[in-house]
Amino acid sequence: MGALDNKVAIVTGAGGGIGRAISMRFAAEGAAVICVDIDDKRVNTTVDEIVSGGGQGIALIADVAVEANAEAAVAAAIEGFGGLHVLVSNAIYDLPLARLTEISYDDWRRTMDVNLNSAFLFSKHAIPVIEANGGGSIILIASQLGRTAKPGRPWYCAQKGALINMAKAMALDHAHQNIRVNSLSPGPVETDRFITNFEDRKAARAANNTMLDRLGKPEEIAAGAVFLASEESSFMTGSDLLIDGGYTAI
Ligand SMILES: NC(=O)c1ccc[n+]([C@@H]2O[C@H](COP(=O)([O-])OP(=O)(O)OC[C@H]3O[C@@H](n4cnc5c(N)ncnc54)[C@H](O)[C@@H]3O)[C@@H](O)[C@H]2O)c1
Repeated sequence: MGALDNKVAIVTGAGGGIGRAISMRFAAEGAAVICVDIDDKRVNTTVDEIVSGGGQGIALIADVAVEANAEAAVAAAIEGFGGLHVLVSNAIYDLPLARLTEISYDDWRRTMDVNLNSAFLFSKHAIPVIEANGGGSIILIASQLGRTAKPGRPWYCAQKGALINMAKAMALDHAHQNIRVNSLSPGPVETDRFITNFEDRKAARAANNTMLDRLGKPEEIAAGAVFLASEESSFMTGSDLLIDGGYTAI
């Protein structure tokens, strides 16, 4: 028996490091997963791995910043698997490290659209269906940088801080519908995207800034997502689950 048997989940950014680990762990725990990503190769790899492991998954190649795609993801959950119980908003559009004065308004707006506005769009269209299915769990993937600052990341810190407080406000509004809403804040995790901000993998690992003196693994974040999605966290809502190797406590 899995922790997510008979559940249907949408995971955005499901082709990436953390999104793939969450999608695969959800499927291994019995959930059927709608895997949404703009990158067809990456998301098809996630779904192939789910299916070859005996799980259930559907790929939706789509830009999460477009409202019709949020509606399409929810429709795919209903048509493919009969409903929806869990949403993980995880996709990220990244920029190289830069101060605010060096970022164009177009770049700023694109990060807002993909990283913050998509959480609004997917939640808006998921909530009525999750309620109709008896309730469930919404997880907004934030960051330890939603709680603290890092040079060259003004847009990221702004959006991740917003996601943490947005989850609290949504939790308050939707508790009566039996929908729990939490954010999950990873610390530095060894994904391809994280590594690209450094000269090489060795430099990225050395710059972990954690008490445990290493980068996290995507699977360590997926474990937290399973907890938040399942009944194991039934008394948890309006919280931020910080999995950061002690980064923010130093
Ligand atoms: N890796 C870390 O160190 C770290 C730390 C803290 C928080 N996080 C958060 O975890 C989440 C996942 O990060 P990751 O490191 O796995 O990133 P990643 O780049 O490996 O994965 C992100 C995925 O999002 C997809 N994506 C980008 N734009 C999209 C769009 N418009 N529509 C649909 N999909 C789109 C990409 O194709 C990619 O597959 C992000 O929200 C990130 O901010 C990561």
